Amino acid sequence: MSAKIISGTEVAAQIREELKKEVDEMKAKNGVVPGLVTILVGANPASISYVTAKIKASHELGFYSIQDDQPSDIAEADLLKLVDKYNKDPKIHGILVQLPLPKQVDEKKVLNAIDPDKDVDGFHPVNVGRLMIGGDEVKFLPCTPAGIQELIVRAGFETSGAEVVVVGRSNIVGKPIANIMLQKGKGANSTVTVVHTGTKNLETHCKRADILIVAAGVPGLVKPEWIKPGACVIDVGVNRVGEKKSEKTGKMIPILKGDVDFEAAKEIAGAITPVPGGVGPMTITMLMKNTVKSAKLHARIQ
Ligand code: GUN
Repeated sequence: MSAKIISGTEVAAQIREELKKEVDEMKAKNGVVPGLVTILVGANPASISYVTAKIKASHELGFYSIQDDQPSDIAEADLLKLVDKYNKDPKIHGILVQLPLPKQVDEKKVLNAIDPDKDVDGFHPVNVGRLMIGGDEVKFLPCTPAGIQELIVRAGFETSGAEVVVVGRSNIVGKPIANIMLQKGKGANSTVTVVHTGTKNLETHCKRADILIVAAGVPGLVKPEWIKPGACVIDVGVNRVGEKKSEKTGKMIPILKGDVDFEAAKEIAGAITPVPGGVGPMTITMLMKNTVKSAKLHARIQ
């Protein structure tokens, strides 16, 4: 039987609808407008397209938003000053510095300069620590892992007691999603294994997974025979394997492939995310969710 295809595009649209209602309500009842600033340094085409999508989503939800573009030769001290300006701006509840940053800027220094209570990316060490501690400590979950958890829960999979295997140990996906799934509570409480390039016998671990989350950045790494029949497979890989002409625009666009052999895997898995259209659309939506949460926390409203 063919797997249920988990559409991140559909789930993201549903969450944005829920968020729009929440924003309309907080504006009407409390006069609070969520504020987001995106800081883009230079003109990396991928970064421009990500930031454009983030600004568009924030406009659609009725946020107050600022797109602060800076030249690629900006001095580190000037970027730190800019972050500080937004740390102090009461209309701004979320600060996002688009990565990567140019060489003359120490990325870590800049991320660490963001007020942890405005860190809607969830990359600040304080928020990483809050996630490790769990419970009420958690303020902002990093966006891609938070989106993965939403997809699993909304696809109807029981996470409590489930064997979750995470392939990859990056700071942005692997480590935080492992932490999220092992929290005590709803949508988590799983038994988590993290496998990586140093793991012996990847296949054996993957075969045990009720929920298999793959974020390795290696196209087609996970073979169909590694998948437990009926498992939930979340493919976080976005690998550019070539280019093709867009039917819509006629422009050349990248051909994207996940870390899982999708066509074969969907005949074995119970549910699977496609690439593109799986995890990808969730990331920006969770950024919007974090910004709404931040605005509520700052305004002390429920
Ligand atoms: N660059 C690529 N993805 C991201 C992201 O999620 N946040 C930031 N700040 N930069 C990125």
